[in-house]
Amino acid sequence: MKLLLTEDGSHTIYSEQFDEIYHSRRGALTESQHVFIQNGLAAVPIHTMDIFEVGFGTGLNALLTWIYAEQHDLEVMYTAVELYPISEGVLSEINLASLFPGHEDKFHKLHNARWDSPDALDARFSLHKIKGSLVDSILPAGQDLVYFDAFSPDKQPELWSAEIFHKVYEAMNPGGILATYCSKGYVRRNMQEAGLRIEKLPGPPGKREMVRAHRPL
Ligand SMILES: C[S@@+](CC[C@H](N)C(=O)[O-])C[C@H]1O[C@@H](n2cnc3c(N)ncnc32)[C@H](O)[C@@H]1O
Repeated sequence: MKLLLTEDGSHTIYSEQFDEIYHSRRGALTESQHVFIQNGLAAVPIHTMDIFEVGFGTGLNALLTWIYAEQHDLEVMYTAVELYPISEGVLSEINLASLFPGHEDKFHKLHNARWDSPDALDARFSLHKIKGSLVDSILPAGQDLVYFDAFSPDKQPELWSAEIFHKVYEAMNPGGILATYCSKGYVRRNMQEAGLRIEKLPGPPGKREMVRAHRPL
């Protein structure tokens, strides 16, 4: 794994194993804000919610969520699955914590939290990091929001199948939302086959579209 500086000044990571970068080169922070916070979290109409993330990675989505939750008085149970946790060496060099003065401790708490059991990081934000693959992990039921942030379907087609979306659908509450940066046709069809209703939205800089999917009420 190597650090990369993206166009908005935030770092992301390049994975040699997958020959893939974790975020858009046009801006890691900009992409996460747009796809997952603005078009995901901000669209959830309740104040106490369960969030599930596919691919904890740098913890950027979790960090943005925790800050947003604090600012909007939300109570969040955040569960994330991750098969390849980032090494401490890479985490010590990444600049994401320094982008949020006053919140640096949150980045460290997210990464220092134990794996495989829930951890209350403060009175209103709890984290459960599952070390394993989305394919064979048992997903906790009752999710109001899903951040589907796996590597691209070109690199990991097995994570974007109708079977996987069915598994995620089953973990979602009726009325729940799934946000993802990917809007490829066959991915949308796999989501629909799993029962999700698709909404196409303008993507972040450099991407025409993103998808917000809904489990019908
Ligand atoms: C596009 S990156 C996004 C990471 C993270 N959301 C972030 O903002 O840094 C995809 C993530 O999925 C993880 N991943 C890859 N295969 C996985 C699998 N089978 N199950 C769970 N996570 C996986 C990768 O290690 C990586 O952290």
